[in-house]
Amino acid sequence: MPTPATLDALLVEERVFRPAPATVIEANVKPAELAEAYRLAEADPCAYWEQAALELEWHRKWDAVLDDSRAPHYRWFPGARGNIVHNALDRHVHIWTKNKLALIWEGEAGDCRKFTYFELYREVNRFACALRALGVSRGDRVCLYMPPVPETVVAMLATAKIGAVHVFVFAGYSAKFLRERINDAEAKVLVTADGFYRGGRCINLKTVVDEALEGVRGDAAETVVVVRRTGDDIDMREPRDLYYHDLLRQESPEAATEIMEAGEPLFWLPTSGTTGRPKSVVHDHGGYMVGAHHTFRTVFDIKPTDIHFCTADPGWITGHTYGVYGPLLTGATVILYEGHPLYPQADRLPAIIERYGATIFYATPTLVRMLMRYGPQYPKKRDLSTLRLLGSVGEPLSPEAWMWFYKHIGRSNCPVLDTWWQTETGMAMLSPMPISVLKPGSVGKALPGVAADVVDAAGAPVPPGQGGFLVLRKPWPGMFSGLAGDEEGYREAYWEKIPGAYFAGDVARRDEDGYYWIQGRADDVLNIAGHRLGTAEIEAALCAHRFVAEAAVIGVPDKIKGEVAKAFVVADPAWTGAFPDADALAADLRGHLRRELGPIVILRGVELRETLPRTRSGKILRRALRAEELGEPYEYRSDAEE
Ligand code: PRX
Repeated sequence: MPTPATLDALLVEERVFRPAPATVIEANVKPAELAEAYRLAEADPCAYWEQAALELEWHRKWDAVLDDSRAPHYRWFPGARGNIVHNALDRHVHIWTKNKLALIWEGEAGDCRKFTYFELYREVNRFACALRALGVSRGDRVCLYMPPVPETVVAMLATAKIGAVHVFVFAGYSAKFLRERINDAEAKVLVTADGFYRGGRCINLKTVVDEALEGVRGDAAETVVVVRRTGDDIDMREPRDLYYHDLLRQESPEAATEIMEAGEPLFWLPTSGTTGRPKSVVHDHGGYMVGAHHTFRTVFDIKPTDIHFCTADPGWITGHTYGVYGPLLTGATVILYEGHPLYPQADRLPAIIERYGATIFYATPTLVRMLMRYGPQYPKKRDLSTLRLLGSVGEPLSPEAWMWFYKHIGRSNCPVLDTWWQTETGMAMLSPMPISVLKPGSVGKALPGVAADVVDAAGAPVPPGQGGFLVLRKPWPGMFSGLAGDEEGYREAYWEKIPGAYFAGDVARRDEDGYYWIQGRADDVLNIAGHRLGTAEIEAALCAHRFVAEAAVIGVPDKIKGEVAKAFVVADPAWTGAFPDADALAADLRGHLRRELGPIVILRGVELRETLPRTRSGKILRRALRAEELGEPYEYRSDAEE
């Protein structure tokens, strides 16, 4: 959540930036077309999304665009059949894109691998055959615990090609987190790597996997496919562990693509919410494909000559939608980078842009702030003249960071598209278009077909300029089809908070021009460097420590990461016998949290307390702790807190 000071800065922001005439002339969606898109989407949303679906190839067309008879379980394109991989890969090998670069990958040490669509197609087919040979079939889950390497993209596509469901666990999560997700998904196969390079270090993943699989349930992850990346000496356990490269050697470069119903699952993606357990967001083949393709083509304005550099790890939704599926669906070339963004120095990302002539750079506010800290001399060393669009996602991009990004990366020449969306939405929902008038700090208007609103707790729209809850009033094709195995959670968390609308969990305001300004989460979800982490999840992890009796976690502002966690802990008195002082206990808790959740949780401090403030009904008053921490006034409101 922003502090009052940043809110004030947002409120007084009045700068606007108009698009350059050339941008407007060359845009895929020109002003008249955008106006028509808004008109059609308003008058007949299904007709609008049907047009978008017709831009893709289907094995069988839909009987209807949308079935809302079981709302909030919306079914997009019922009756339609196809497979996202047909559109992302198969069809390209019959057209001019066949020999175009699909993927440019750069390792942290500077090694580079490039794949044309044809090469990627053949590699994916080989792995698809291998997965089939391992007994994976339609509907089965394949868990991916992968670093950003080309085989990660191959594994996603191969899984989808045979109709199986990929469940990605970001490689920054712990063994315990991975084990729980493998169990939840009852994953048949786990795909991983020996390790990868980051920040000049070799990170070993396989030992984490071995630990995760110690306590896995039943016959989950019976087979582990290991990509050899670092060549490190790792423990390969027979017959469970197989090397990816050995498996592929004997496989055919041709594989049949499974024909899926539009509503069948494509992937699950674990994400944090307000409960102690992460939830798995489910996306399908049909609707997600339409959403990813349409928004990538229109918002990112993709052209045959574009080279898109998406800095997100493939393990997050941004990596799924705009690092893998969106670019491949549109026949674009995408850059994937393995390592730390500042390694060996702060011009690494600009150097990648320069080296491959990237035209679009899609980053995060945390990255922008990191680059800002090192100063403009780093991007200045590099030729960034190929860039024509900048994008940002995941956290609020302050007007100051926006201006820096615009000036020092975009050379005051590239529109900055601050895109708002979520794991659940699957696709960008609020965003400027390249032809839009831009306001630094704002995520622009709702895209055509997106019915966004800002409302009070009763669901009534609030006047322009006033803060409220961000909601979406109409379904959209990229939307998730549910939470795996949690029907009640799906209804309760998203559809029952505000009558008749999807509750996004964000606080926002909309100005007189219809521009949205995102102020932060409305719930107990932290946004640490663009990664969503529930306070309840961190508290549950802390409470698993033998000397923690109670724990409360709050988010505190951080100059680079946006927000970091701070923990307040009531310790079991027995701790004094086990640790020399409170600092030693705090250090142990940090290590514990790392083991429980992984390095993804960034903890500012651990404070020992005698008691934690609670409401009359016993709920922890995180707001009171936060106000105390930030030196802000706090008033107990029993209605709001209970
Ligand atoms: O709070 C919003 C923030 O990130 C949340 C969604 O997180 P996740 O599902 O991990 O997806 C992130 C990438 C799509 C939102 O509820 N968020 C996302 N984009 C923005 C944002 N906050 C401000 N500005 C954005 N552009």
